[in-house]
Amino acid sequence: MADRKEEDTVAYEIKNGIALVKFNRPEKRNCMSPKLNRQMLRVLDELEFNDDVGVLVLTGEGSSWSAGMDLKEYFRETEEKGLPGIRQSQREAYTWWKRLRWYQKTTIAMVNGWCFGGGYGPLHACDLAFCADEAQFGLSEINWGILPGGGATKVATNLMPLRKAMYHALLGENLSGQEAAEAGLVNESVPLDQLEARVTEVANKLLKKNLATLKASKDAVKRVMEMTFDNAEDYLIRAQEALNFHDKTHGRQEGMKQFLDDKSYKPGLGEYDKSKAGTGRD
Ligand code: COA
Repeated sequence: MADRKEEDTVAYEIKNGIALVKFNRPEKRNCMSPKLNRQMLRVLDELEFNDDVGVLVLTGEGSSWSAGMDLKEYFRETEEKGLPGIRQSQREAYTWWKRLRWYQKTTIAMVNGWCFGGGYGPLHACDLAFCADEAQFGLSEINWGILPGGGATKVATNLMPLRKAMYHALLGENLSGQEAAEAGLVNESVPLDQLEARVTEVANKLLKKNLATLKASKDAVKRVMEMTFDNAEDYLIRAQEALNFHDKTHGRQEGMKQFLDDKSYKPGLGEYDKSKAGTGRD
């Protein structure tokens, strides 16, 4: 097959508030080439403030989620261009992972198959992760003579206890979906034929929440991990005050009103009805 055009390395569709974004190089097990990295950033740009999108799901076409970095196009061919080429392709990859990490919309990794090495970057960047029991996760770098770079070591130590992360990095053995869930790499593992339904169910639950609050909450979870307790307390006060400004639907007041005055719901049992709070567009 001729090389895929850059714009064909990522596919997406938007349905009922969910953007389903796919690594789209199944013939190369969706490994990440510079072309794919550039295209993914374009797609993320396009969807980030699209009002038709509430949740973004990242998955892979074919049998793979992503087989990590493209050893030929990302490593060998850019190394032939010397340091400027290497730094440029690193920037292209890290930029979209970082963009995803702090994305405006809630993001879910839907890991349908192979997930290796560099794939841990976008896996970790997604707020939630669900996988198929049939998926395989591996820090395969040790098997071909490099350390788990591109943030993969940091991902493993962020998500797993030290002993598990160390074993994972040194042995280069794969984890099944269920083992990945037990190790903390993903939230849950389900049989492949139930994966999309389960992710859609979770996405639909998220879509009922106040989207501005989701953004503030996911950022808060990620930010406070690296703060002292005092700094975290202070950050959370400031973040809520910023949210009061950014949430044009005034969800906080609406939530209190529906509970305290209308008595139409109980926050302990579910979310307020945001359809009664206006669109939030000024
Ligand atoms: N980089 C470059 N090419 C890759 C690739 C990668 N990370 N992963 C797969 N491919 C290519 C293969 O070279 C092959 O290309 P070809 O058809 O031109 O020969 C094609 O994708 C299909 O791969 P293949 O190995 O035949 O598929 P498989 O289903 O038998 O095995 C994997 C799938 C994922 C187990 C295997 O491809 C693999 O080990 N890939 C490397 C994984 C890795 O170490 N990634 C870490 C990078 S940081």
